[in-house]
Amino acid sequence: MSATVLTTISAVRAALDEHRVAGRTIGFVPTMGYLHTGHRSLMDASVAANDVSIVSIFVNPLQFAATEDLGSYPRDLDRDVESCATAGVDLVFAPSVEEMYPRPMATVVEVPDVAAPLEGASRPEHFAGVATVVAKLFSIVGPCRAYFGEKDWQQVAVVTRMAADLSIPVEVVPCPTMREADGLAMSSRNVYLTPEEREQATALRRALDAGLALVADGETDPVVVERAMADVVATAPLGKLDYAAAVQADTLVADGPLHDEIRLLLAVRFGRARLIDNDGGVVPTAPA
Ligand code: PAJ
Repeated sequence: MSATVLTTISAVRAALDEHRVAGRTIGFVPTMGYLHTGHRSLMDASVAANDVSIVSIFVNPLQFAATEDLGSYPRDLDRDVESCATAGVDLVFAPSVEEMYPRPMATVVEVPDVAAPLEGASRPEHFAGVATVVAKLFSIVGPCRAYFGEKDWQQVAVVTRMAADLSIPVEVVPCPTMREADGLAMSSRNVYLTPEEREQATALRRALDAGLALVADGETDPVVVERAMADVVATAPLGKLDYAAAVQADTLVADGPLHDEIRLLLAVRFGRARLIDNDGGVVPTAPA
């Protein structure tokens, strides 16, 4: 199997128009490349449910702050194209920055309410960059199912709301987080970790487990759950907690005691790497 690599917007539109005219369904997996098993799970979901699958590989400058790792973000296009082909992906869209942004963007897509807390509070420009590039990619690819990882829970919320608000004919499909054997969520940025940091990075999964165990035991005070998660992160001396949050799964904020579906989210810095992870649970209802 091989995957066709396209580098221009017009080539993607022409190729996908042909498939649509033939009545084929299209699955789309947006990525920044350096593909791993987490990305692979999205590709597998797309290939299983659609006649044609396209993966985009584009390290989007708009979503990196000046102080972040745009310049050093890991890249390996040849290996990525190989992974796409192995997964049964038909098309790879790998545009240059000039193709995507031939001039500075005058248009910015923002989803302020969903983007404000958590990642948005730590990385104020980030989600405008994500929403803008995803809106542009959706416009280029056209009607499709688009696959996103729950590892980036807030990103899924931002993109889903953006597509709904703008009536973009794309169905956003969330997919479960893929993890290493010891629980660390897979991420292209894990390559930044030193062996010592890598060992201690399991603290994120352990912190989520500790928080979820409290919730399962009936704890509904978000502050107590957040403190328990922070305490586990503090056992990793190389880790620096950015945030530990216990919130409602749908709104991403706590509106009093936790209830119904909740989400625990974490961001922790280990040296050059800023790692995020999350998991969900349901607050048990008191016996009648
Ligand atoms: P990137 O970090 O490359 O991730 C691409 C997709 O893979 C995202 O939907 C992300 O949530 C998913 N993913 C990453 N790690 C995963 C894991 N361990 N398990 C399951 N899915 C995982 O997210 C982006 O790129 C960008 O923000 C993008 C949406 C492409 C816009 O530029």
